[in-house]
Amino acid sequence: MTDFPLLYAAASHVEHLEQTESTNDHLVAVAHLLPVFSVAFTLNQTRGKGRLGRSWLGKPGKTLAISIVLPWLCDSSHVSSWLPIIVGVSVADALRELDIPEISVKWPNDVLCRGKKVAGVLCEAASERRVVAGVGLNLSAHRNELPTATSTSLAIEASLGKNIVDAFCATLVGLLWERVGADGSEVPAVELGALYRTKIGTIGKDVRVHEPGGAVWLGVAEDLDEHGHLLVRSVESGETRQVVASDIVHLRH
Ligand code: BTN
Repeated sequence: MTDFPLLYAAASHVEHLEQTESTNDHLVAVAHLLPVFSVAFTLNQTRGKGRLGRSWLGKPGKTLAISIVLPWLCDSSHVSSWLPIIVGVSVADALRELDIPEISVKWPNDVLCRGKKVAGVLCEAASERRVVAGVGLNLSAHRNELPTATSTSLAIEASLGKNIVDAFCATLVGLLWERVGADGSEVPAVELGALYRTKIGTIGKDVRVHEPGGAVWLGVAEDLDEHGHLLVRSVESGETRQVVASDIVHLRH
């Protein structure tokens, strides 16, 4: 406990796991027994899960996996689809508070540092009106230890203080508590677009959209709709399409 005093003060309950397959799986199984804003974290996750059924790979000892129990916002479906975006923006804001440079969010919730992915978010429903929000953060991996050429780690981009894990986790939990509230009531139903649209770095960018079915097309990311889905104007047809579950690549010009 003494190694993580800020996190223990910020969260309702903390489980520091030496090793686990997936902090999300661990918390989803016990979320109904725990208060909201309970946390499980490890530096040694062995079977991490990513978005769209992929794996999340992290070098043991060099990647943080943290999962947090949040209240379920499903009563208002347009609010619940914003939750992963709120988590991604909060991860980005927590990293900025720790002076990590050039942080941005790639829709829906990848967090980039100097344009390369440093963190990812996976939100999963649990029982008893709870959601588990999982965050994977590349802490200290060297370039040759990262899963892709488009990934980076905090240690590559910044000089890290000794208590970076404690400070990051505590700041993230604090921001989510503020933005979601103990029962989800802090999430305003109508102003989400106004609040979060400006925080998504994808908006205004030229992008390549990779749909789950294999279609690939180019466009300009224009806005978020009322569900937090991305609106992209196709270069080819000029029509604006709603992008729900696809991969986005930011194109540089
Ligand atoms: C992505 O970028 O595709 C999302 C990655 C999410 C990884 C985190 S690590 C903590 C939590 N536990 C998991 O199994 N996945 C999430």
